[in-house]
Amino acid sequence: MEKVLKFLKEAETYYLATIDGDQARVRPFGTVHEFEGKLYIQTGKVKDVSKQIHKNPKVEICAFKDGDWLRVAGTLVEDDRIEARQSMLDAYPSLQGMYKADDGNTEVFYFKDATATFSSFTKAPEVVKF
Ligand SMILES: Cc1cc2nc3c(=O)[nH]c(=O)nc-3n(C[C@H](O)[C@H](O)[C@H](O)COP(=O)(O)O)c2cc1C
Repeated sequence: MEKVLKFLKEAETYYLATIDGDQARVRPFGTVHEFEGKLYIQTGKVKDVSKQIHKNPKVEICAFKDGDWLRVAGTLVEDDRIEARQSMLDAYPSLQGMYKADDGNTEVFYFKDATATFSSFTKAPEVVKF
């Protein structure tokens, strides 16, 4: 998981795909954080992306960096503890103007049953499960 976290942080932006009925949806995301040994992302409950995740938590993210790309497919689980949300906000001071751990909007999810695949045009894929 450390390698996945490092790649996503260095890429800065990843693309999060969700399922909306029978339609795929994708958008840029940046938050990624390790808390209690799990990989977390952050969003807001008011967003469509949040509603899609709650309805169907099976998502995939993709990021690209230095000729390599990473896909992480898995199930997102909401962690409703204030300390999990606060830990994320502490890692992203820039979010603190928009989000508070107890604002009723901020939410964090961790990846469960995740399969991460590192790919490139020149090397064999590397699969990491966490
Ligand atoms: C570089 C970048 C990083 C972003 N990171 C996040 C993020 O980590 N969490 C989030 O909720 N929105 C993030 N956003 C904003 C979402 O992409 C935006 O709110 C999007 O419209 C949400 O998807 P939805 O419209 O399907 O709800 C980011 C936007 C950009 C451009």
